[in-house]
Amino acid sequence: MNTELLKKTASEVVAKGKGIIAADESSGTCQKRFDSVGVECNEENRRLYRQTILSAPDLEKYVSGIILFDETIRQKNDAGERFPDALAARGILPGIKVDGGAKELALHEGEKVTEGLDGLRERLAEYVTFGAKFAKWRSVITIGANIPSEACIHANAHAMARYAALCQEAGIVPIVEPEVIIDGDHSIERCYEVTVAALKDTFNELKEQDVMLEGAILKASMVIAGKKAAAQSSPEQVGAETVKALLESVPKNLAGVVFLSGGQGDEQATANLNAMNLIGGTPWPLTFSYSRAIQNPVLKIWAQDTKGNVGKAQDALVFRSKMNSLASEGKYTAEMENERPY
Ligand code: G3H
Repeated sequence: MNTELLKKTASEVVAKGKGIIAADESSGTCQKRFDSVGVECNEENRRLYRQTILSAPDLEKYVSGIILFDETIRQKNDAGERFPDALAARGILPGIKVDGGAKELALHEGEKVTEGLDGLRERLAEYVTFGAKFAKWRSVITIGANIPSEACIHANAHAMARYAALCQEAGIVPIVEPEVIIDGDHSIERCYEVTVAALKDTFNELKEQDVMLEGAILKASMVIAGKKAAAQSSPEQVGAETVKALLESVPKNLAGVVFLSGGQGDEQATANLNAMNLIGGTPWPLTFSYSRAIQNPVLKIWAQDTKGNVGKAQDALVFRSKMNSLASEGKYTAEMENERPY
């Protein structure tokens, strides 16, 4: 294992004031997103949309890395450069989603386990040739009546640890993502309990597989009440409970923590990240790795005129990235939204 390379890459991913854009939606997820804005979801439209994101001017000021989907890492921009090469040329690290998606967990109704370990060593070796520097694997933990089960948490934690070990063997920084789903009417306290259980098991398994934490990153969900809960969580509550949960379950030597947005509103996700960083005092940087909370306005604007609105869509992308960059240092205020270019 090339420990120096892994540590260096991991520290670049969570560099001060920077975060990640997750642009790694599978073709199925893309279909749903494009359907919602009335754009045909074919390979060329996906390429054009991703090109809009990946070529946004000044994005490198706020974004350290972008997670790509398998299709995108193989595609080229209009200038004929492969997307990962074009990103690297402007100082943005190309990442790659490598999991095979969350599938029904046998004998556990309503729960999922993420697949994708078969052939992963070979796929990672190919992604290295495309220039991938880091990878992502997402697990899904659902809160409901009598779930999540220990079986679900453990099966996912074990798979993530084996994925992470394979990544490090290949010289790629693993991002492990045990996502506690925000859907449902659960309380913030219940989310806390489940998040801590999932994180503790994940880090036990990473230890068991000898994963080097200084060369690994956690993609966490925030501790927050379910979307349908009667009592919704304020940024101060989310900040305090999330920081407390991380301090209780994440080893100090991990390179960093990035967050998914999970269906939160765009500004809510920014305010919540900011609240965590106002508390501060964590041994790891806390930053963003959002898909929807950054791309929501971008996709809508682009879809209104996929040729004519590229610049406007990029302005929205860069604005949201900047807001989240400020939030990663606790420097965001709601008034800054008045400058929104959309
Ligand atoms: O794996 C999940 C995505 O990378 C983050 O997506 O910010 O829309 O939850 P999200």
